[in-house]
Amino acid sequence: MKVLELGTGWVHWEALFLRAFYEVEATVFDVWDNRQFEGFLTHVNALKAALPQLTDRGPERMARAEALLAKVAACRNFDEAYAVLGFTYLIAPDGSLDSLADDSLDLVFSSDVMEHIPDESLPVLAASLARVVKPGGMIAQQIVPSDHLCIYAKTAHRKAYLQYSDSEWARWFENEVQCQNRWQQSDFRALFQRAGLEIMSEEILASADTSDLKIAPRWSNYPREDLDATVTRMLVRVPA
Ligand SMILES: C[S@@+](CC[C@H](N)C(=O)[O-])C[C@H]1O[C@@H](n2cnc3c(N)ncnc32)[C@H](O)[C@@H]1O
Repeated sequence: MKVLELGTGWVHWEALFLRAFYEVEATVFDVWDNRQFEGFLTHVNALKAALPQLTDRGPERMARAEALLAKVAACRNFDEAYAVLGFTYLIAPDGSLDSLADDSLDLVFSSDVMEHIPDESLPVLAASLARVVKPGGMIAQQIVPSDHLCIYAKTAHRKAYLQYSDSEWARWFENEVQCQNRWQQSDFRALFQRAGLEIMSEEILASADTSDLKIAPRWSNYPREDLDATVTRMLVRVPA
């Protein structure tokens, strides 16, 4: 089974978790080298310690996962860790998946990545995903449509960005350090549907009440549930 993790920072969450239990061949992808080996190792050890609480996939798979993660934890750098895991690291500064063949992947996943992709790149990415994933293959995303500036401004509302027009946002908040596209769950749903993908399931994991915010006209027709959502998941499929 061939899988692709989009936006691999230091965590390698899905690729590592899946590889611990199964013989997957994973490509981990980013637009720049955003990895940190120490952080990665911290996560490997935390995952190893938490396995019994996270899942129960039977004694054989659990033993396999523990042994593999122990081997990875003994590595000194990403080259060694990827040799153990069989991971391929791919960087494309423009976010292009052009180097991947048509129908070559069974599964694509990402955590906390889609909200960082520029507006104009998202349709290109959705079309590329429809191309590289096999018919019947899945694309699983965790998307965090919260205002990421509230990570630094602790008292700010978690959907504060909904108050600003595009020009206000561009003038006062948009920055090159961390792109944030302000897309909502319904925008991502429409994006995937336009690319010919089927929505299999959607989930809102966390919300913040936005009823007291003065919402900018851009979002005046969006449902409240959409505006309130701060952490979401979406599973989509390439039609079989
Ligand atoms: C908040 S981090 C997510 C952390 C990550 N899931 C992990 O395992 O650590 C967002 C990541 O998305 C990446 N990213 C930004 N634009 C991207 C694009 N067009 N395609 C793929 N990844 C992208 C960033 O470089 C960054 O590593």
